[in-house]
Amino acid sequence: MKEYGLFIGGKWVDPFKDGTFQSTNPATGEILGTIAKGGEQDVHNAVLAAEKALAGWKKYPPPKRGEILLKAAGILREKKDELGELVTREMGKVIAEGKGEVQEAIDFFEYIAGEGRRMLGETTTSELPEKFCMTVRQPVGVVGCITPWNFPMAVPSWKIGAALISGNTVVYKPATLTPLCGAAMMQVFEQAGLPPGVLNMVTGPADPVGKAIVESPAIGVVSFTGGVAAGKDVYKRASVSLKRVGLELGGKNPQIVMQDADIDLAVEGVLFGAFGTAGQRCTATGRLIVHEKVYDKVLKNLLARTKALKLGNPVDPAIDVGPLSHKAQEEKVLDYIEIGRKEGAKLLCGGEKLTGGDYDKGFYIAPTLFEAEHGMRITQEEIFGPVLPVIKISDFEEAVHVANDVEYGLSTSIYTRDISMALRAIDQLESGITYINAPTIGAEVHLPFGGVKNTGIGTREAGTTAIEEFTEIKSVFIDYSGQLQKAQIQPVNGE
Ligand code: UN1
Repeated sequence: MKEYGLFIGGKWVDPFKDGTFQSTNPATGEILGTIAKGGEQDVHNAVLAAEKALAGWKKYPPPKRGEILLKAAGILREKKDELGELVTREMGKVIAEGKGEVQEAIDFFEYIAGEGRRMLGETTTSELPEKFCMTVRQPVGVVGCITPWNFPMAVPSWKIGAALISGNTVVYKPATLTPLCGAAMMQVFEQAGLPPGVLNMVTGPADPVGKAIVESPAIGVVSFTGGVAAGKDVYKRASVSLKRVGLELGGKNPQIVMQDADIDLAVEGVLFGAFGTAGQRCTATGRLIVHEKVYDKVLKNLLARTKALKLGNPVDPAIDVGPLSHKAQEEKVLDYIEIGRKEGAKLLCGGEKLTGGDYDKGFYIAPTLFEAEHGMRITQEEIFGPVLPVIKISDFEEAVHVANDVEYGLSTSIYTRDISMALRAIDQLESGITYINAPTIGAEVHLPFGGVKNTGIGTREAGTTAIEEFTEIKSVFIDYSGQLQKAQIQPVNGE
């Protein structure tokens, strides 16, 4: 069993002053480690350490920052199997996905390391002679990163990687359910030679740790991924000190299957999109929207394949679906199943907690299919579990209307062989990400990630836009005329 304190100023400090909490395996109930419960004072200390490290890190040339990120990527690569297993044991996703998630962190660090040699600004003309103009990017300062339990390696890598390459120092709070992944990430950076204080971690609950980060007047940006209610609270609190916020919140992502689709491909896609990570992704497929002409065929095929999914301990590579991450999540999903039943959705399979033998040790819910009507709560609200409502539609216009008629807009998908229909879907689906003939999950790190409507605000994470969240743009005017020149006022060339 592992024990960790807080990581502040390059040291593991104050192990258990304010008490501790435990990390447990959601598949077995096994206790994996004990972690220090941070308090307000710890956040304050972490902010001070980050402030102290800022001047040095700002001067560290961006390509050199990139070298440290590349080293971190290399260490992650060496430890990929071990850390992939840690993700699986602490969070509950199947082992292939656990390793895939470590790969996503490697990919992002490698990608963003190169940003150290770009960090592009603009050069442009001036309305006055012997003068030119440009923009440069500067770090914001100390930034706060708060990350969720469902992607305990990948999502922190997006935030920390982009913040660091841009020259910021970081106070990081991992989710309370996955602190060991947080600690592992700190160890990677320690080993990679990141200067002390540049990255600090305070573990502990949202109140007081997250709250203290969001409310700290010394922190310039808070980058948060989590639920909508928590996101709105972050936004409100951060507004008091006029902080910049990046919020990446929920989704109710639709996969549309049109009448001309490759049905087997579409069913395979939705199995991965809806039941991968036991549905606990913000990109998970939360609705299957099927054209009436292929509805029966899709449903028959999907039902058979859903029933065949193997549930169990996710470290076993033969397992398709692992447990939910914790008891409250299991209860929430069971509540939604009850809501679906009560509002008249037809339960096709699943709908219950699995019990007996090893299932009693974890939080297992059988993959669940409902035939539903658009507008029911199970078609509108994010469930974050292996529950898929299927909705019948009769044409493309209805499919788009149903797909868009929710409060979220993260990821959308359409299966069709009709190129015009696919292109129309790209135009009309309201989301930050659209997939053609692929499921709603599985975004790649070199493209921007984020969504519209209640999915979030701020600039997109990852991709070419990753550094927007963490940089200030300065406009620079350089006058080499040797005279006072007055923009907007002075005539030019004897005009
Ligand atoms: C999340 O669910 O918070 O596109 C992130 C995907 C992953 C990231 C998901 N690359 O599904």
